[in-house]
Amino acid sequence: MPTKTHAFFDPATSTFTHVVFDEMTNHAAIIDPVLDYLPSSGRIRHYNAERVAHFIEKNSLHVDWILETHIHADHLSSGAWLKQRLGGRLGIGTGIAEVTRTFNHVYNTPHEIPEDGRHFDHLFQDGEVFTIGSLNATALAVPGHTPADMAYRVGDDVFVGDTLFSPASGSARCDFPGGDPSTLYHSAKKLLSLGDNLRLHLCHDYPPDGQEPRPWVSVAEQRRENIHLNDGVTEQEFVGLRKERDRQLELPRLIIPAIQVNLRAGNLPPAEDNGISYLKVPLNLL
Ligand SMILES: [Fe+2]
Repeated sequence: MPTKTHAFFDPATSTFTHVVFDEMTNHAAIIDPVLDYLPSSGRIRHYNAERVAHFIEKNSLHVDWILETHIHADHLSSGAWLKQRLGGRLGIGTGIAEVTRTFNHVYNTPHEIPEDGRHFDHLFQDGEVFTIGSLNATALAVPGHTPADMAYRVGDDVFVGDTLFSPASGSARCDFPGGDPSTLYHSAKKLLSLGDNLRLHLCHDYPPDGQEPRPWVSVAEQRRENIHLNDGVTEQEFVGLRKERDRQLELPRLIIPAIQVNLRAGNLPPAEDNGISYLKVPLNLL
């Protein structure tokens, strides 16, 4: 299959944005694009999104889709900005409804952010097939990290979001609302049974100093080497070690700004009557 991939790494949030495209038709999808946010000044920047837009334009690609694997808590999404700039349809999993309901309570925004996800262009069901030019793609529900996680398979490339990290980092936390380690275990096994040669493209990597972040890892290597999810780890063992690890983790640095923007599909909150958009901080709640 004429599938090409390209990854952009944002060192500030350790996040990969991926582009996958069809060499025959030049149609593309962008996955998990990053919006730069400077918490000390409240500035939004588009350095990462500009890099992606430049790549799309330089290669004369036509953007069919801008896909989110889930509502990220560690970075803001540039999905809305890239859609405005490049076109394409914004897609995420149907589980967004549950996540929106939960966080509409946190931010007191039920009147602003619709639970039915209608501000996205498409909500994917598990197993749904869609196209990127002449490529067939499939949305795969992989809940556990959050209840709404989707992976997107395009030929032998799978964009796994936070279902699996690199072998040395293992897996993502499961202690957010609606997260569940047992569910994540089964989601990871679903991806790890797709075929040993498939490439699993990661949403993040946290390499030790001096090492390069890895945008993808083969299924075979994950099954052999992943510290949390190799073939030798039972569900019970995984649940135990994941719960133990989650008890030690601080909340992500950008969780409060990130979720309220990402629930809006990467749009900032509506401007107030002075023309300025504000983020909310719930005090003593999280
Ligand atoms: Fe995440």
